Amino acid sequence: MHQLRIDGCDTGHVPIVGSAHITEADNLDYLASIESESVKLVVTSPPYNLGKDYERRSPLDDYLAAQTKVVAEAVRVLHPAGSICWQVGNYVDNGEIVPLDILLYDTFAKHDLKLRNRIVWHFGHGLHCSRRLSGRYETILWWTKTDDYTWHLDPIRVPSKYPGKRHFKGPRAGELSGNPLGKNPSDVWEIPNVKSNHPEKTTHPCQFPIELVERLVLSMTDEGDTVLDPYAGVGSAQIAAAMHGRTGIGCELDASYVAVARERFAQLADGTLRTRPMGKPVYDPNLPNGGH
Ligand SMILES: C[S@@+](CC[C@H](N)C(=O)[O-])C[C@H]1O[C@@H](n2cnc3c(N)ncnc32)[C@H](O)[C@@H]1O
Repeated sequence: MHQLRIDGCDTGHVPIVGSAHITEADNLDYLASIESESVKLVVTSPPYNLGKDYERRSPLDDYLAAQTKVVAEAVRVLHPAGSICWQVGNYVDNGEIVPLDILLYDTFAKHDLKLRNRIVWHFGHGLHCSRRLSGRYETILWWTKTDDYTWHLDPIRVPSKYPGKRHFKGPRAGELSGNPLGKNPSDVWEIPNVKSNHPEKTTHPCQFPIELVERLVLSMTDEGDTVLDPYAGVGSAQIAAAMHGRTGIGCELDASYVAVARERFAQLADGTLRTRPMGKPVYDPNLPNGGH
């Protein structure tokens, strides 16, 4: 368990205490130990059944049946004002793609969850395909348990395109037409994926960029809330939670990833963890200095 104190972040002058925890365990065993309705945000990226280092390829029906059990537990532990964010890409078989969010839609809908957004995460790097277009996005299904869900737009606003634009006629003529805090980031997010030259890269082949989870944590939880990742990998979700005064918990099967996660939590606590800051512009080779 790693507790950290980040002074002045988010709330101005009040110190925020966040913490990050990871358990080496199978997620169904782990989830059984979590109290019902105690988690404000479940955020995760499960294996895609592609036969990566950390998974064994199985028939799609078996994959779906296994996911169905984990989803049921995620719903049980979810607070009535909570959200589930399930981040997936495509299962690929002999060049044919199966979008996993489409496959999983009914699994969530059967629990009477409400889909608030299907967020498209667009990134610049990946395999170059020769017989189809190269895949450059994955999705996050954002579900809530009820209509009365925790939601904060202001902490995740992004700079407006025309920040000084004013109404030029009507009763509000001369006033700023946009929100001075910035605009809604929309449901298409351009965030670099974690490849070899990313500051957060570890030994894990598919880790979350921390800034992606930060957006979800800041908008869907309050300080002190619990954020859970049942496929925790190297602990990116817990780090994002702890950075903002939340309690990040989760489990991971592979002991080597658990060790890397714990090392990262220690670095976060002593201030040496390298992260890509939320809101940093994406590198653009056509601009001087990449636009930075
Ligand atoms: C796509 S990765 C998630 C990476 C994570 N988002 C991160 O930022 O590091 C999926 C992870 O789930 C783990 N996993 C697979 N089956 C599991 C299970 N039944 N219980 C717990 N973890 C599991 C794998 O070892 C793998 O690290």
